[in-house]
Amino acid sequence: MSATLAADFVVVSNRLPVDRSDDENEPWRRSPGGLVAALEPVIQASGGAWVGWPGQPDIEIDPFDFDGMSLVPVALTADDVELYYEGFSNDTIWPLYHDVISPPAYHRVWWDSYVRVNRAFAEAAASVAAPEATVWVHDYQLQLVPRMLRELRPDLVIGYFHHIPFPAYGIYAQLPWRRQVLEGLLGADVIGFQRVQDAGNFARAVRRQLGFETKAGSIRVPVGGGRDRVAISKAYPISIDVATYDELARRPDVQARVQEIRESLGSPDTILFGVDRLDYTKGITHRLKAYGELLVEHRLEVEDVTLVQVASPSRERVVAYMQLRDEIELTVGRINGDHDTVGHTAIRYLHHSYPREEMVALYLAADVMLVTALRDGMNLVAKEYIASRVDNRGVLVLSEFTGAADELTQAVKVNPHDIEGLKDAIVQAIQMPPAEQSRRMRALRRRVRDHDVSDWSRGFLTDLDRARARGHRS
Ligand code: G6P
Repeated sequence: MSATLAADFVVVSNRLPVDRSDDENEPWRRSPGGLVAALEPVIQASGGAWVGWPGQPDIEIDPFDFDGMSLVPVALTADDVELYYEGFSNDTIWPLYHDVISPPAYHRVWWDSYVRVNRAFAEAAASVAAPEATVWVHDYQLQLVPRMLRELRPDLVIGYFHHIPFPAYGIYAQLPWRRQVLEGLLGADVIGFQRVQDAGNFARAVRRQLGFETKAGSIRVPVGGGRDRVAISKAYPISIDVATYDELARRPDVQARVQEIRESLGSPDTILFGVDRLDYTKGITHRLKAYGELLVEHRLEVEDVTLVQVASPSRERVVAYMQLRDEIELTVGRINGDHDTVGHTAIRYLHHSYPREEMVALYLAADVMLVTALRDGMNLVAKEYIASRVDNRGVLVLSEFTGAADELTQAVKVNPHDIEGLKDAIVQAIQMPPAEQSRRMRALRRRVRDHDVSDWSRGFLTDLDRARARGHRS
């Protein structure tokens, strides 16, 4: 580890904000996520560092500079990837925290690896943070890092943001290591969640499991000798870099691409659009079922409507994801086989990821956007769609089980488990008069514009600064 780095602001997340590329001249490319857009300016301004995994097993790389940020890679072995990342993070915590949509597996060797890897991240962060630095830890893969870091470096101010849901206590209580995870998170001064409900679930778990006093978002954490410190637990709904989507949507080349997309689909009257990581939390099979039934019942005709479904590859070595892919592809094949004509397709299924320009063109081509997640921390696709609709047109069909549903009240809300309700919502969206589309979209755009990802990071970091001031006073 570089002994020379002493960063005043350190971000810690499972993945670094860059992806490895095959191009020798440009071996790293910035990953497209909104987190990078939000945190990069803060890191650049403070000479900060980002600690994370480079995304492939067994690559040992020294810290390096990237666009004014110091990137500090944490190497994971192939075993770590299997046990910590695919196992405990994505086959225990991910399904458990998404309301056990898929059954979580509990394996002690996975947990042991999770502890080991969390310690490696904590040690890496501890070694690059300047005295009294601010460290911001991200997401469910690193829930033990806040406490480990506090033990290594009591001088630091530590924040943690949880990007996914925090489940109700009855579900959380299944976790064999439920106390250790809560204690890990409580190492932070500020623990952020997407929704008020998530913060409430967390506080309740802390009361039930640890017996600590929680009041209006503050938790008294005993520190020994009869004393305690206050940890803040609160909702900070994440957002996107709105200006980037708005600018892309106004670019002539992107608008020309919208026309091309429509034409290449046979110029249907209506394009329905879904885009998700290929994940069982996203409700893709529910969406396909509803759409397939609408075609069978002739409430929709393949000459008039096409569903474009982008399913970006994700966690492909985890069995639940492999099974889901098979199920989706079988269903798509059946629906297309039953309904396609030579000139028209029911579903254009794309198992790829696309650059942002193409995504914005697809958003602009989409008359109806389908977000039917069974559970989702926030769902940024919903916000990206809205930010792209500079024409104030288009309809968002939005699952009430997403964090976004708390804010995006002008969307057409659905319970994706209710297939009849989902079918009615799709038809309602297709038939919505332009004036109503525009009224709703303007309100949605105001909401998204007034709260973009830099407001989110500012809100969180302001509370961390307050925690620092409180710490100095006591
Ligand atoms: C979700 C999680 C992120 C994660 C992303 C992609 O959004 O909250 O922490 O990075 O999915 O998943 P992956 O396993 O590829 O990192």
